[in-house]
Amino acid sequence: MARGGKRARRRRPPNPFKRLLIALCVLLSVILADLLLVYGYRPFVDAAYYAVAGPLLGVTPTPVPTPIPTATPTPTPTPTPTPTPTPTPTPTPTPAPTPAPTPAPTAAPAPRATILLVNREHTLGADFVPDDLVYLRDVVPEGLLKVKGADIQGDRTAVEALIVMIRDAVAQGVDNWQVSAGYRTYDYQQSLVDEQAYIYRTENGLSAQKALQATYQLVAPAGASEHQTGLAFDITVPGVSFKGTQQQKWLHANCYAYGFVVRYPEGKQEITGYLPEAWHIRYVGLEVATVMEYNGWCLEEYIEHEGNTL
Ligand code: DAL
Ligand code: ZN
Repeated sequence: MARGGKRARRRRPPNPFKRLLIALCVLLSVILADLLLVYGYRPFVDAAYYAVAGPLLGVTPTPVPTPIPTATPTPTPTPTPTPTPTPTPTPTPTPAPTPAPTPAPTAAPAPRATILLVNREHTLGADFVPDDLVYLRDVVPEGLLKVKGADIQGDRTAVEALIVMIRDAVAQGVDNWQVSAGYRTYDYQQSLVDEQAYIYRTENGLSAQKALQATYQLVAPAGASEHQTGLAFDITVPGVSFKGTQQQKWLHANCYAYGFVVRYPEGKQEITGYLPEAWHIRYVGLEVATVMEYNGWCLEEYIEHEGNTL
């Protein structure tokens, strides 16, 4: 190189420290830019990039174009949400108060059965007629029993019980039954009274008063006979006296189970007012008949203890 000429410039060796620093700055800028890009703020990224890296790299930032303002979009009206109806709270059931225990009733009285009582003190009018009479000839199975006379009638329920009873007796080997009497009218009962009193007067020589007194031991005055109710029957055996027969014994032992009672039993004459009649049965229904049988009561006694009279 010539003397006096400009001294040739010597190129300095690169400073490794400076290069390392630049590399670190560039690296930090990139990391920072990536982070900010992730969050979408480009202008700030660029500014930061050039602020940090620019002086070191000797680069000038490219001016960021000012964004043209776009029309502010008319906000789409947010539909007013339909208010969700507030659910009516389900009322919490109030627990029913525990009732105070009711003391157990002490021996509630049993209902008293109402039953038709007919005797000298409880009489029927001349016009009383049962409302459901049937002719036995119409309902009794043929051959089951003999009906004395074609016109015997009885209360339908009582006749049905009678049929069941006699059928059971026959099934047990006790047959040859006869029904001698059933429903009687008031006037027919009066004719029976007159007939018996006549016999006592004419055959036994009793006065009219004594004949009537004797008659009323056997035959009820008109209006005082159970036969007028349709619930009473005279049960016999054709051609023989009923008392002492196997039929009579079976009847007395079993009739309660079919709702019948022997209405004028032995030993109750003072109460019933009539001599014992082994043949006369009265329908009172199973419940009453069973209670009477169990207690050994006649009907007047049953009503005194347990029932009401119609
Ligand atoms: N033999 C009974 C008492 C009546 O005549 O009804
Ligand atoms: Zn009778």
